[in-house]
Amino acid sequence: MQITTTLTSSPTDDARLAEILENPGFGTHFTDHMFTVEWTPTDGWHDARITPYGPLTLDPAAAVLHYAQEIFEGMKAYRHDDGSVWMFRPEANAERMVRSCDRLALPELPADDFVQAVAALVEVDQRFVPSNSGAGEKSLYLRPFMFASEKFLGVRPAEHVTFMVIASPAGAYFKGGAKPVSLWLTEEYTRAGRGGMGAAKTGGNYASSLVAQREAYAHGCDQVVFLDGQEGKYVEELGGMNMYFVFDDGSIVTPETGTILEGITRSSIIELAGKMGHHVTERKFAIDEWRDGVASGRITEVFACGTAAVVTPVGALRTKDGDVPAPASTDLTMRIREALVDVQFGRADDTFGWMKRVV
Ligand code: PLP
Ligand code: COI
Repeated sequence: MQITTTLTSSPTDDARLAEILENPGFGTHFTDHMFTVEWTPTDGWHDARITPYGPLTLDPAAAVLHYAQEIFEGMKAYRHDDGSVWMFRPEANAERMVRSCDRLALPELPADDFVQAVAALVEVDQRFVPSNSGAGEKSLYLRPFMFASEKFLGVRPAEHVTFMVIASPAGAYFKGGAKPVSLWLTEEYTRAGRGGMGAAKTGGNYASSLVAQREAYAHGCDQVVFLDGQEGKYVEELGGMNMYFVFDDGSIVTPETGTILEGITRSSIIELAGKMGHHVTERKFAIDEWRDGVASGRITEVFACGTAAVVTPVGALRTKDGDVPAPASTDLTMRIREALVDVQFGRADDTFGWMKRVV
């Protein structure tokens, strides 16, 4: 892919950048540039470019605004102590985006082009990759996304599609850092059904989660847990994270895939925890098993994981029938978190070959 680059004439000045990187928060500050490439059936992917970050001009009839034909990815670039900048498993995000493309009837973006696009933006905006002094977990959050930009109100797969990448310096996703998050169990809303879009990373899944998330806030909880749409019995995932359950014999369970988003953090933890000597199973996990397991002490830890939130202990679960208390420990959760971020920040050997150097 041939990328043309037009640099901004008004880069963020050093003082302002230092201020942003000091306390980036999540998803509010953006870098100086963005990547764009367009697709049509006749020309395929074309006109790849990096330009100054700025608003889009979109026709009011653009299909994405009406029928939500849109997908996205979430990934991060990390600065190591020697100043180099690395991405974590970008090919895995590229492959997941291809699967999302297929489900949303969008044109596939070749994995190599995806990785090239993301790396090119990180390189141009490398000043925005925070350095990590002390225990910080700052990184550059990358948001590749693809949408139906065709001006047409008929309901069919769009014939003009745009893929973009934007980037945003990020600190902890939750204000409390790695403090346990409280969860609300929604028994009214589901995020996925058989044959639906649960396994695709598409905006519609997040739109449908918001009413349940609002309910979670109203119950004083940080996040919402969804059950399966068929029987309302099995734990699926949170609005933006996968889940893990740790047993008193050291074994670990994570809900099986099919209707959940196949998290890259989730799959990395399967490998990492395995290497740490834990037996990891992907299977159906009933909500009653959670309730009973915490009560009997068989379940010692519950945690959630994802790119934005890394690995976060789960505290109490609030349900309409009463609370399931926080499990006894967060010990293994924190060790898994440590093992993962140590690889990401170059403090541990990358034995799985997950890191890709950009700068
Ligand atoms: N589940 C949902 C619904 C998500 O939005 C995310 C976040 O990306 C995840 C799980 C975790 O996926 P990953 O580890 O690839 O970030
Ligand atoms: C991510 O972790 O990348 C997510 O997509 C979660 C949320 C910010 C949507």
